[in-house]
Amino acid sequence: TAVTYTLPVIVHVINDGEAVGVGTNISQAQVQSQLDVLNEDYRNLNPDGSLVPSPFQPLRGDMQVQFVPAALDPSGNPLAEPGIDRVNRTTKGWTAPPYAANGSLAYIEGTIKPGSSWDPDRYLNIWVINLGGGLLGYAQFPDNTAGLGGLSGLGGSAATDGVVILYAAFGRVGTLAAPYNKGRTLTHELGHWFGLRHIWGDDERLSNTCSGSDYADDTPNQAIQNFGCPTYPHVSCANDPSGDMFMDYMDYVDDACMQMFSAAQKDRLQAVMAAGTPRRSILA
Ligand code: ARG
Ligand code: ZN
Ligand code: CA
Repeated sequence: TAVTYTLPVIVHVINDGEAVGVGTNISQAQVQSQLDVLNEDYRNLNPDGSLVPSPFQPLRGDMQVQFVPAALDPSGNPLAEPGIDRVNRTTKGWTAPPYAANGSLAYIEGTIKPGSSWDPDRYLNIWVINLGGGLLGYAQFPDNTAGLGGLSGLGGSAATDGVVILYAAFGRVGTLAAPYNKGRTLTHELGHWFGLRHIWGDDERLSNTCSGSDYADDTPNQAIQNFGCPTYPHVSCANDPSGDMFMDYMDYVDDACMQMFSAAQKDRLQAVMAAGTPRRSILA
């Protein structure tokens, strides 16, 4: 039996000291627009769900997760901007961004996250950062208390729990770079945070690209990731006639072309949450 979870979110806006709404110091409206996207996508309320091809319509899943801006800081004081923690990196003594330009996440994982995280038993931590290196975002997986396929050995420490998103790919209003301007990067990365794997099975570097699995039994076996905005159907791994479920949030297509989670992906999320995976069950 599925449960509806309501998670308090804190968005750490890691900025360079710009005025609010300029550059990396994104506006309150931009943050709110991202929460709006999540509350559509994780309740199967996204208007573009109507674009999902008819064979996949019955498979659309309502994840039953809602996201609310945190009202109080860790000391219990009301936040001036609910759900937002603005962090001027110069006052922290942090080096200048971009922080992932050389492909390394070490500075974010070792310095920025531990230096700004709020108790992950009480908040869903989201960092908005100038990443560089073409990276849109990344997530920390849950541990495998739920005992699901595709999660063994994953998870991480409390100080790094959460999701990191490029400031120009966050939300659907404000400082945004097309085609990642509809807020779907966080929809995708939170999918990982809830325990979902890439829909193509992460086997793109193997000789048999039909050998991987996403451990969701209603997503067609798929060769490799899709980019851009594919024309339906895109067939691989003998998954004709409907082909790849490339419009799933766990593929790599453009924001405007991803429109659904599946019922089996919902079951994975619900299993992760129900298992009381550390730093999840308390966020009720
Ligand atoms: N981690 C992936 C990347 O950085 C996220 C891709 C999200 N895709 C999207 N259309 N927003 O490339
Ligand atoms: Zn991913
Ligand atoms: Ca595959």
